[in-house]
Amino acid sequence: MEREEEKLNLQDMRLNQNRELDLGKNLYWTDEVKIKIQGVRLMTQFNTQKEDKYVNEFKILKSIGKGAYSKVKLVIRQYEENGNQYEESYAMKVYNEIEVWAKINYENVVKIYELIDADDHDYLYIILELADLGQLASWDFKQELYIRNQAIYESVLNHLKETQVFDASKREVEQIAKFIFRQLAQSIYHLHEECSIIHRDIKLDNILLSSKDLKLKLTDFTVARSDIADETRLFDSEGTPSFTAPECHIVSQEGYRPKPTDVWSFGVSLYAYVQGIVPFYASGGELEMQINSRTKEVEIPETFSPELSDLILKVLEKNPMQRLTIFEVLNHEFFKL
Ligand SMILES: Nc1ncnc2c1ncn2[C@@H]1O[C@H](COP(=O)(O)OP(=O)(O)O)[C@@H](O)[C@H]1O
Ligand SMILES: [Mg+2]
Repeated sequence: MEREEEKLNLQDMRLNQNRELDLGKNLYWTDEVKIKIQGVRLMTQFNTQKEDKYVNEFKILKSIGKGAYSKVKLVIRQYEENGNQYEESYAMKVYNEIEVWAKINYENVVKIYELIDADDHDYLYIILELADLGQLASWDFKQELYIRNQAIYESVLNHLKETQVFDASKREVEQIAKFIFRQLAQSIYHLHEECSIIHRDIKLDNILLSSKDLKLKLTDFTVARSDIADETRLFDSEGTPSFTAPECHIVSQEGYRPKPTDVWSFGVSLYAYVQGIVPFYASGGELEMQINSRTKEVEIPETFSPELSDLILKVLEKNPMQRLTIFEVLNHEFFKL
C-alpha cells in the first residue's frame, strides 16, 4: 500500500484509537468520514477490501496538487445507465488539518469527534472536544499586552492550594505557568516523538484548558505537518510571526529542522504567559519583532526566577542545534516538583 494512501485510511485509524467520549451520547465517530468532493459533499466510506482505493464510489487515481492546507487527488466515479458504462472525473480535496488531527488521540490535545456536512449549508463542520475554560490569554491591542484568562488562573491557583503544592515563598504566576506548561511540553513531546507531527502554531491563543481535571488541550492544527522524520527539512514559514523561530524567517538552502521550531514557540508562549508580552516585542510590528529575534539577545526580566530564566535562555537559543529538545525541556529544573 502506498504511504500516501495509507494515510487516507481513517477507518482503520479509528478502530485503533479506541476513543472515549464524555460529551454527548449522540456524538460518535462513525464509519463515515467526510471529504469534500468538488462542491458535492458526501458521506464517505473507506473501502479497505478492494485493492484500489475508494472513498465511497470515488476511486482514487493519483495526487494532482498540494496546497498550503490541503492536497488534491484525481478520482473517478464509474456507473452504469441503460446498459452503458460511464466514467466521470472529479478532484477530491483532503484537508491537511483534519487528516493530521484525526491521527492524534491524547489527553492534552483537543479531540475531533465528528465531521458534519449539513444538507442546507455549504460548510464542513468539525465537532470537537470542548475545552470549557477557553484559551490561556488573549492579546489586547489597546494595552499591547496579553491578558491572562482569569478563570484559568484562579482554577489552577485553587488546585495548587488544595493539593498543597502551592509554595507561598515562590512567585505565584510562575507556579501557575509551571502547572500549565508542563502539560504543554508533554503534548508537544507526544506529537514529536509518538506521532511524528509538528504543530507549527503554538501560541497562547491555541492553548486551551478544560475544567475537568484542569487538563491542557492543545488545538488548531491548521498548519501542522505529519510524517516528520529525522532527515525532514522544511523550507516554508508558517504560524504566527512573533512566535516563530528565527530559522523560519529567512530559510537557508538546506532548509530547517521541524521539531526545534515548536520548542522555540513553546518558549515564546511561556515567556508571554508570565510577562504579558512576547520576547523581542516591538511596537513597530511583526517584521521588527522577527528582526529582533534574529539579531538581539533575549532580555530576561528581573522578576524571573533563576530556573525560569535558564529555561527561557535555552529554548530561545537562536541556533536550533543547540536549542533544548522537548524531552530536555520536560526534564529541566523549572519543571521539577
Ligand atoms: N475545542 C474548543 N474548546 C473551546 N474553545 C475553542 C475550541 N476550539 C477553538 N476554541 C476557541 O476558538 C479560537 C479559534 O479556534 P482555532 O482552532 O484556533 O481557529 P483558527 O485556526 O482560526 O485560529 C481558539 O483560540 C479558542 O479561543
Ligand atoms: Mg488558532
